[in-house]
Amino acid sequence: MLIDPDRLLADLETLRGFGREGAGVVRPAFSEAEIAARLWSAEKMREAGLSTLVDPAGNVFGLPPGDGPWLLLGSHTDSQLEGGWLDGAYGVIAALEAARALQAAGRPPVAVVNFQDEEGRFGALTGSNIWAGNLDLATADALQGPDGRSFGEARAAMPGKADQFVPTERFKGFLEIHIEQGPWLVEAGEAVGVVERIVGIGRMSITFTGEQNHAGTTPMARRRDAFQGLAAYATRLNAALAPIVTEATVWTIGSARIHPGAPSIVPGKAVFSVQWRDAEAERLEAMRGAIRETAAAVAAERGLGCAVAEGVAIPPRAFDAAFCDALAAAAETVVPGRWRRMPSGALHDTSCAASRMPAAMLFVPSIGGISHSFAEDTAPADLVAGAETLAQSAARLA
Ligand code: HGY
Ligand code: MN
Ligand code: MN
Repeated sequence: MLIDPDRLLADLETLRGFGREGAGVVRPAFSEAEIAARLWSAEKMREAGLSTLVDPAGNVFGLPPGDGPWLLLGSHTDSQLEGGWLDGAYGVIAALEAARALQAAGRPPVAVVNFQDEEGRFGALTGSNIWAGNLDLATADALQGPDGRSFGEARAAMPGKADQFVPTERFKGFLEIHIEQGPWLVEAGEAVGVVERIVGIGRMSITFTGEQNHAGTTPMARRRDAFQGLAAYATRLNAALAPIVTEATVWTIGSARIHPGAPSIVPGKAVFSVQWRDAEAERLEAMRGAIRETAAAVAAERGLGCAVAEGVAIPPRAFDAAFCDALAAAAETVVPGRWRRMPSGALHDTSCAASRMPAAMLFVPSIGGISHSFAEDTAPADLVAGAETLAQSAARLA
């Protein structure tokens, strides 16, 4: 075995301590806990003999001596508002462990990265999107987080930022290991997934504006109730999308704010998010049209104002076939017969890296298929087998 399992699991537990909330973590991008976790990860990279650089977006790179090009391994330590202890964190620690293991084995060195705001508190895969050159910093700086702070204001809190990015040309490719965040590996009793492609995503914020009024004296027929508009929209949207989608397509109204949100007031405003994902770019675009048209139709029928703000979109991507073959060969060595090739229904930083260089991913099982929840977990044996597969893959590709 190339890696040191105890060191891997110990570092994972230490990282869990930053922003810990029960079994999970609350570590949104640029929060105090996340900045502390990020600076700790930089310290661990330096302990591993890597020189560290924090780029203007807050991404932390650990670079071997010399100019490269190196193979880059990594993921993210920022979490969802209520996050699991492994989402992203596992990929950063497994990357660090692979770098240490390869160095100890006298193999070619690899670089490590901890991307910022993968969870899209401000945009979508914000840190890696900026680094890959697909989202310019000025546009990102204007993106608003849920608390009203912009990405530009939030990143100002990150100490030690360089004013330059690490050029993508310094790397010969990118590998990320991540928990599957779905049920397929754990239900099949398999240990590793070789991820060959990843879905794209569309995002929108929609505002319905009606008339705030008295909940006791306003006749139902005269109301312009923004929440009733949202409720009608959710049902109409499912019907509008039915002819466009497949069983694998997903769409979510994940956040909704009703204004003013008092029991005795007819809601005058509803602001809500719509997010949709699919493996086909054409289908994502067809869905965008249906999502907008349905909002306009429901609003018109109910005398509501309707405003739509488009969010950051990410296209679907296929990963590098040669990289996937190297991951498959490593998986067959580490967990013979207990791995599969599969797509990713979740977004990952690899999607951005793949726009600039050969890239691919590994998955390990999620217990119960649960993620984006404090209940997220993976068996230690699977965490170790995955990290060993990453190290052996990197040894083949570095
Ligand atoms: O939402 C996602 O797919 C990722 O976990 N940020
Ligand atoms: Mn993640
Ligand atoms: Mn996530």
